[in-house]
Amino acid sequence: MKFHACSKPLKGRLNIPGDKSISHRAVMFGSIAQGDTEITNFLPGADCISTINCFRQMGVSIDIDEENNSHVVVHGNGLHGLKRPEDVLDCGNSGTTTRLLAGILAGQDFACVLTGDESIQKRPMRRIITPLTLMGGDIESVRENDCAPLLINGTRLQGIHYNSPVASAQVKSCILLAGLYASSMTSVTEPAISRNHTELMLRNFGAEVRCEAFSTQIQPNPVLKGCKVEVPGDISSAAYFIAAAAMIPDSSVTLRKVGTNPTRDGILRVLQNMGGSVEYKHLSTSGGEPFADLKIRYAPLHGTTIEGSLIPTLIDEIPIIAVMAATAEGDTIIRDAQELRVKESNRLDIMVESLSKMGVDVEATSDGMIIHGGKKLHGAVIDSHKDHRIAMSFAIASLVAEGETEIIDADCVDISYPNFYEDLESLI
Ligand code: S3P
Repeated sequence: MKFHACSKPLKGRLNIPGDKSISHRAVMFGSIAQGDTEITNFLPGADCISTINCFRQMGVSIDIDEENNSHVVVHGNGLHGLKRPEDVLDCGNSGTTTRLLAGILAGQDFACVLTGDESIQKRPMRRIITPLTLMGGDIESVRENDCAPLLINGTRLQGIHYNSPVASAQVKSCILLAGLYASSMTSVTEPAISRNHTELMLRNFGAEVRCEAFSTQIQPNPVLKGCKVEVPGDISSAAYFIAAAAMIPDSSVTLRKVGTNPTRDGILRVLQNMGGSVEYKHLSTSGGEPFADLKIRYAPLHGTTIEGSLIPTLIDEIPIIAVMAATAEGDTIIRDAQELRVKESNRLDIMVESLSKMGVDVEATSDGMIIHGGKKLHGAVIDSHKDHRIAMSFAIASLVAEGETEIIDADCVDISYPNFYEDLESLI
């Protein structure tokens, strides 16, 4: 797909599609709850559809409204009601599906195999195999390379206190979900706070979850009851328009009902640190998740440092933040972001290589990058490596680059934002 520089400001309003992390969880928790869970503003992206398909294979009836595919009703089977799937469970490109589902499957009374696409089969699963094994789980990497396919023999689990070496909501949630099936309380301590959607939503379904500083505790065997879940707009999807409006002179866009959970809103803090302008309107909450309309106006940006506990709050936004930093005056330093090497692609290497191709002065470091901003970008051929966030980041970069940019496999945006290009077009 080809893109050209945008010669006029971005203006207008957008409804941001539902949060991917929250959509996955609503389907999963609805499936193991009793009764119906009605989900509005569900994200019908390929990743969340993978989650729906896995639970359908385990006997859960899930209705997607034919006229409005962001309206979903899950008819839950209860905590112990999942059925043995007749085939392998295919998680597609979705790390959240793979890791959270592994936690649920570890405590079932059947065996099954979890796998996914080429990217999923390269992502590290030792981080969940270790704690699940400590809980008494029987989980192995079929090719003995610590990656999927994973063979999970469901069994009786015991509670553990786990000190996670990594601030990862996928690891934390995997353990907490396995903890629902354990014989005693389970707790997880993280080195920094990762997104807390599992904790907030499980509580609404009736689980007993306690959070204190960097630790989360869960009691086993709750009665989970289906409920209504109103999914806020995904701040990780809003991020592309936040960056575009901040970079293109005279732009002003309003992004409606965007989730502003403090474990996810790092990009807004970084934007403000860079001199950007964000105004919050119509603040509200649903199911403990805060959201607001965000008005972003162009303002000249300068470099900043992004590190430490800020990293988990913007982990998926680092590619688009790096694009923003390329147009800002001065240096931006990104540290402590080694996790980016094990996402859908190696996002650190790909960002450095692709930004360089567009004329950006950028250096790779072991755990991040240093961007010497302010040089004019030029068009290039960018390989997305089928990573949705790389494709969207460079579609935005192309708007401020001279000449033509071509993005290879640009349609991979379907993973998290099927209407991304149409929504972008509507602001131009
Ligand atoms: C997610 C957590 C993050 C994030 C991913 C979604 C989740 O991964 O990168 O896109 O839904 O829990 P980690 O928890 O592994 O950092």
